[in-house]
Amino acid sequence: MYTSAMQAQIKKIETARGKHTEPPRKSADEKNKLLAAFHPDYQAASFATLQVGPNAGEKAPIELAEQLHSNSRLYTDGALTPIDLNAAPHYDTDVLIIGGGGAGMAAAIEAHHAGARVAIVTKLRMGDANSMMAEGGIQAADKANDSPAQHYLDAFGGGHYKAKPELLKRLVLDGPGAIDWLTNLGVLFDREADGTMVTHHGGGTSRKRMHACADYTGAEITRVLRDEVQSLGIPCIEYTSAIELLLDESGYIGGAVLMNMLTHQIEIARCKSLILATGGAGRMHYNGFPTSNHYGATADGLVLAYRAGARLLYQDALQYHPTGVAYPVQLFGALVTEKVRALGAGLYNTQGEAFIHPLETRDVVSAAIMRECTESRGIAVGEATAVWLDSPNIERIHGDGHIEQHLPGMLRMFMNYDIDMRRTPILVYPTLHYQNGGIEIEPNGATPNIPNLYVAGEAVGGIHGRNRLMGNSLLDVIVFGRLTGKNAAAQAHKSTKTKNALHLQHILDHAQSLKKAGLNTSKISPLLLPNYARNSSL
Ligand code: FUM
Repeated sequence: MYTSAMQAQIKKIETARGKHTEPPRKSADEKNKLLAAFHPDYQAASFATLQVGPNAGEKAPIELAEQLHSNSRLYTDGALTPIDLNAAPHYDTDVLIIGGGGAGMAAAIEAHHAGARVAIVTKLRMGDANSMMAEGGIQAADKANDSPAQHYLDAFGGGHYKAKPELLKRLVLDGPGAIDWLTNLGVLFDREADGTMVTHHGGGTSRKRMHACADYTGAEITRVLRDEVQSLGIPCIEYTSAIELLLDESGYIGGAVLMNMLTHQIEIARCKSLILATGGAGRMHYNGFPTSNHYGATADGLVLAYRAGARLLYQDALQYHPTGVAYPVQLFGALVTEKVRALGAGLYNTQGEAFIHPLETRDVVSAAIMRECTESRGIAVGEATAVWLDSPNIERIHGDGHIEQHLPGMLRMFMNYDIDMRRTPILVYPTLHYQNGGIEIEPNGATPNIPNLYVAGEAVGGIHGRNRLMGNSLLDVIVFGRLTGKNAAAQAHKSTKTKNALHLQHILDHAQSLKKAGLNTSKISPLLLPNYARNSSL
């Protein structure tokens, strides 16, 4: 599968393997210089200035700004689509959850147990989400040598000290409980022979606190959550997107306008509280990057909430996972879990030099890979450039069979293309993986200014600051999913506003603001599916 030029480079890595010490960790100053020079978040050309809405004047990725500067799907030719918002709704529930990934399902389970009527709406199928595709693990400080405080320090530093302290505190304090909750539901975490949980390091962790199910942790968690949602009888409306949020006359969230993805039929869902769990944005392909994200990751929740008046936080902070597949081209951008580096695979350039400590935080490792490729120490593979990830070093350290046991998904993915990662290094380049920012929330999971509107999962901004550590996303999905489910249910029980009239005045206001800013656009948002979807005319 590899060319003779590639084979020659592999020989250099084989010669170096096991004979050198890992590159030293970088100082804060060195990291800052590297990031400033090579990470896309630090390049002005990646961003546009927002002209309208709560974050006007701040920067956002160009592609997101375009979505936020677009009109509603319900606003065409200078007018709102006539819909009777106050007729008998198609769905009427206490807690409406938009998004059927890990956060949405965790929220649904808790809201149901709190006695609320719950419905999930999801534009694809329940479980089609980034949670399902998470590989390497979920962090939680539940070992004797660890503590939530230690976890906090790692994550706070890794996020450049920008996390909202109360949110991060909630994340780390509830970590051990999240693992117990998942275990009790049936998640089969990896264990030692004596039953102790196996835990690994991730980039930027000072303790081994990554709990995993081999390299399909998200798939295993999703399996269990989906089973639970189904056995509790929680309705899930599939192939249906939320295309606008509905407010009531007191400014409370009142529901959502839905669109059936297959028939384009418009439906109305009424609710007392609403949880946005719409996930990430990798399919926006910011900066032209490939992505590790699922097909529906198009920032929908950010667009809906922004139009309704919610603020975003760190919308300009994106995560490029250092190790996306660069070769073979059929897998371009697919995730090579950080666990490969956690188990001992180093990163090498074409000269056979190990150029960065493999467990620096993700933004730093990605910037180092981009530097190597920019400065001609990467290998051209098709349209991409790549560096080597020395996967055979894992079996040199841990013995034969370790990759098959701990990284079976990775092994199979590459074996499908005749690349045996146990014997030969693999080619990687950063891939768009995560939106570090999102919708701003309070410690209870609610947006500060739209009563009864909650957000959970990747659509939230502020939990991780400007850079997230591995395994803290699956954790926030569970912690904030559960928290918002409980709190949204409690608010719904208190609500007396169910009969208030619903409106879309915010859509008219948004259209007015666009006009005032001179943004005469024919574009509509949210995107719902990537531009290259077969039915992108949706
Ligand atoms: O590398 C990984 O397995 C990804 C994990 C994460 O984003 O948390």
